[in-house]
Amino acid sequence: MPEIRPAIGVLISGRGSNLQALIDAIDQGKLPAAIAVVIANRPGAGGLERARAAGIETLVIEHRAFPNRDAFDQVLANELLARRVSLVCLAGFMRLIGTPLLEAFPNRILNIHPSLLPAFPGVDAQRQALEHGVKFAGATVHLVTAELDGGPIVQQATVPVRDDDTVETLSARILIEEHRIYPEAVRIMLDGGWNVTGRRFRRRS
Ligand code: GRF
Repeated sequence: MPEIRPAIGVLISGRGSNLQALIDAIDQGKLPAAIAVVIANRPGAGGLERARAAGIETLVIEHRAFPNRDAFDQVLANELLARRVSLVCLAGFMRLIGTPLLEAFPNRILNIHPSLLPAFPGVDAQRQALEHGVKFAGATVHLVTAELDGGPIVQQATVPVRDDDTVETLSARILIEEHRIYPEAVRIMLDGGWNVTGRRFRRRS
C-alpha cells in the first residue's frame, strides 16, 4: 500500500528559503509530509521556482486583485481546503491572515518569524533587535492568530548577537536556525499529541 503522507500548503511572498528547508527535510526523510501546493501572492516570488523545480503545484493569487482581505483570504482558504491540507505554513508570506483562513484552519496555521517573540514582532525584526541592543536574538515558529506574530509559540532557537554584527550578518545567523526549526515544528504539529492552553503550546510528555 502506498504511504499516505499528510498534505501541507505553503504560502510565500519572496525568495522561499524556508520553503526550500521544508522541501529538503521531506526529501531527506526527516519530515513525513507532502507539500500539496505553494501559493504566492506575488508573481515574482523566487520561491515559486523552487517549488516548480521540486515538482510541486504552484498558484499565484495576487491580493491586489481582491476588494478586501477577507475576499482574498476566502480564495486562499478554498484552494487549501480543496487540496485537503492538514496544515498551512506561512514562509515569508507578507500578509496578515484574516478570519476566513483562520476559521478554515483553526490552530492549523504556522508562521516563522526572525526574532525571539514576543520581542520584535512585525517587519525588520533583525534590525529591531540590533537597534535595541539585545545580546541574543533568534527565530520563532508560532501558531497564527488574528494578532500579528502573536500566537502560541511552538518552537524557538537563539543565536548570539556579536558586537560587529550588521543586519545582514545577524539575519544570516538567524536564517540557519529558521531552516532547522521550521521543519521540526511542522513535524511536531503533524505528529499530534499537543494542546494549547491559554498561550501555552505543549506536547504530551
Ligand atoms: C524569513 O526571515 C522569515 O522568518 C520571515 O521572512 C523571511 C522569509 O525568508 N517571516 P524566505 O522567503 O523563507 O527565504
